[in-house]
Amino acid sequence: MEDFIRRLPKVELHLHIEGTLEPDLMFELAERNGITLPYASIEDARDAYHFHNLQSFLDIYYQGANVLITERDFFDLTWSYLLRCKADNVMHTEIFFDPQTHTARGIDFDTVINGIYHALRQGEKELGISSQLIMCFLRHLSEEAAFDTLEHAKPHLHRLKGIGLDSSELGHPPAKFTRVFNEARALGLKTVAHAGEEGPASNIRDAISLLHVSRVDHGVQCVQDPELVKELADTQMPLTVCPLSNIKLRVFDRMEDHNILDLLNKGLCVTVNSDDPAFFGGYMNDNFLALNQALSPSKAQLVQLTRNAINAAFLEKDARQTLHQNLDDFWVAHGID
Ligand code: HPA
Ligand code: ZN
Repeated sequence: MEDFIRRLPKVELHLHIEGTLEPDLMFELAERNGITLPYASIEDARDAYHFHNLQSFLDIYYQGANVLITERDFFDLTWSYLLRCKADNVMHTEIFFDPQTHTARGIDFDTVINGIYHALRQGEKELGISSQLIMCFLRHLSEEAAFDTLEHAKPHLHRLKGIGLDSSELGHPPAKFTRVFNEARALGLKTVAHAGEEGPASNIRDAISLLHVSRVDHGVQCVQDPELVKELADTQMPLTVCPLSNIKLRVFDRMEDHNILDLLNKGLCVTVNSDDPAFFGGYMNDNFLALNQALSPSKAQLVQLTRNAINAAFLEKDARQTLHQNLDDFWVAHGID
């Protein structure tokens, strides 16, 4: 089964590029930029990665991002992630970035997006990995700050597929961002939002009805509202679930308690993603392997998780069809349980 998982062609839809900053690159960039880290060594940094909820993680995550200064830093960060995609057979990835984490430190919006975007284009050319870029607003900041960020993005609209909403969910429900999401949609951008990670199922309902999202990021708290679960199945609203993240941030106590396969069995369009792999213990293969160990899915279920991701991706018809065909071929070659 492990070999099957490693070879399975994958699509990732929930990945924060700042969350791929591995401690070794953090140290390299700190040295390059003359920044002093609060860690004595790479091991010391890894030892600090113990979280008890989302906020305890976010505090460390935003601090790590301080080493990202130049366009080259953002390029190197993104390129390292794409090499991991190659190793894990990720064929297509849709990544988040948090411009406000950087503009608040005096880094230009253009520096951030140029570095990430050029790495994505090189990944397409040299590694054959297709990608989309999604700009997230930090929900603990104001509506005005989100509008300001959207303004900065306007010269780069052709490089962005959509917008998202991340950071602290508790106390920051979707309604605050209704107007800025409306403007983004009027500009032709897709919308997604983190909802129902730590927050209540009502945040999922609001993300759908107020922010008109095409996907819900996380969404695992939908089980608090059985009627919502049914609606998510009926509408095939995708949930970008992040198993290792959910364990590290104590959304579930143990992987054995994770509800992703229950939701899959109820017919929901659930997908597997790595969220912030440098902080949560692994990339796409690690997430699938952890699920396999704890929940013993069938090969057919693992393929369905990828099929769901292909359906949920922001792809044109031909590219989607190519990924489906690739998965069909894989299933014919390797699908005997
Ligand atoms: N939730 C909210 N905000 C985030 C996350 C997450 O899982 N990862 C990075 N920012
Ligand atoms: Zn996330």
